Amino acid sequence: MKNLIAERMDRLTPSGIRKVNEKALAMEREGKKIIHFEIGRPDFDTPEYIKKACIDSIQAGDVFYTSNFGTTELREAIAWKFRTQNGIDYQASEILVTVGLSEAVYAVLCSILNEGDEILVPDPVWINYVNVPKLLGAVPVTYHLLEENDYQIDLEEIRSKITDKTKAMVIITPNNPTGGVLAKETLEELAKIAKEHDITVIADEVYERLIYDGEQHVSIASLPGMKERTVTLNGFSKAYSMTGWRLGYAAAPEELIKTLNKLHQHATTCATSFVQKAAVTAIYEEKDEVNDMVKEYQRRRDYAADAINQIDGLSCKCPKGAFYIFINVKELGKSSAEIASYLLEEAGLAFVPGDVFGPEGEGYLRMSFANSYDNIVEGCEKLKAAIEALRN
Ligand SMILES: Cc1ncc(COP(=O)(O)O)c(C=O)c1O
Repeated sequence: MKNLIAERMDRLTPSGIRKVNEKALAMEREGKKIIHFEIGRPDFDTPEYIKKACIDSIQAGDVFYTSNFGTTELREAIAWKFRTQNGIDYQASEILVTVGLSEAVYAVLCSILNEGDEILVPDPVWINYVNVPKLLGAVPVTYHLLEENDYQIDLEEIRSKITDKTKAMVIITPNNPTGGVLAKETLEELAKIAKEHDITVIADEVYERLIYDGEQHVSIASLPGMKERTVTLNGFSKAYSMTGWRLGYAAAPEELIKTLNKLHQHATTCATSFVQKAAVTAIYEEKDEVNDMVKEYQRRRDYAADAINQIDGLSCKCPKGAFYIFINVKELGKSSAEIASYLLEEAGLAFVPGDVFGPEGEGYLRMSFANSYDNIVEGCEKLKAAIEALRN
């Protein structure tokens, strides 16, 4: 019998996050209590005004295919958001609406990477940015995000890794899994490098609204001369707590958007009609909903980061954005996977071992604080007890 599975599929590794999640769910089915710190999704319900807009849209009969690019109404709303919140003058024609940001990531990478092209990606990183280039036969070249550098990019390292084959550079700010936020000065230097070496920047800004301590998110496409060489990626999943609605978008020069759309047409046709309608409402009619969620994330972050730093053997930077704490467990002298497995089995605490995000993640656990304050308090107490037991 012929081998059914295409060889290229061997280049993909299954999601390490799902692996932890599935094990945790299996333990729950056996009756064990698990506190979920592994899941990268907001725990809040989608704000009511957005749900209502969706229901109204279904009732009004918005149940058909839309333009493959997305509705004009939504593309204009996204362009308005870019103008008013990010200082980038994108036109509606420079925006493609996709089924979650994940689809946009896939479409962008497929549209720009030839076999053998190199793409600079962070390590640690949300692993799609490594796996999709590999699937395409391109080469992900990693640059390091280190705790001692406050998870900023080492510009010298970036320069040293650029070759004739470097086509693009991925930046993610705020970052998953480190919670780091890139400083404006870093982005300015990266912009210089991108222009000097004719590199396209893929800027993933899906966590832009989840930012703390008065930090300001800066979009690299807003810097002089960068709009034409940047693909800005964003979506509704994290800010509006809409992960299950599957809605994202890419903004880029019109020619590239048309190319992305060719793949998007063949893969998904268009994003869901009534979800797009609700997204227009999400953008224009937002009041305090997102800011209230951010305040609550900050409260949880403050508690958790403080509690973790008081546990002997653990430490962490207080993240400036997203909803992840990257916990340093190096002092414990065991691998991240061993510690994650111990904490799940012995304490019912589900964390993602950092090596899932790349080699630089080894020695860390990713904790998502998109969980209730009470669960975070209980989880940190259990964590303290479990680490004490491990050290004795
Ligand atoms: C950095 C990053 N980019 C993109 C995504 C995908 O988001 P979406 O739910 O819109 O597909 C995620 C999801 O966790 C993410 O962490």
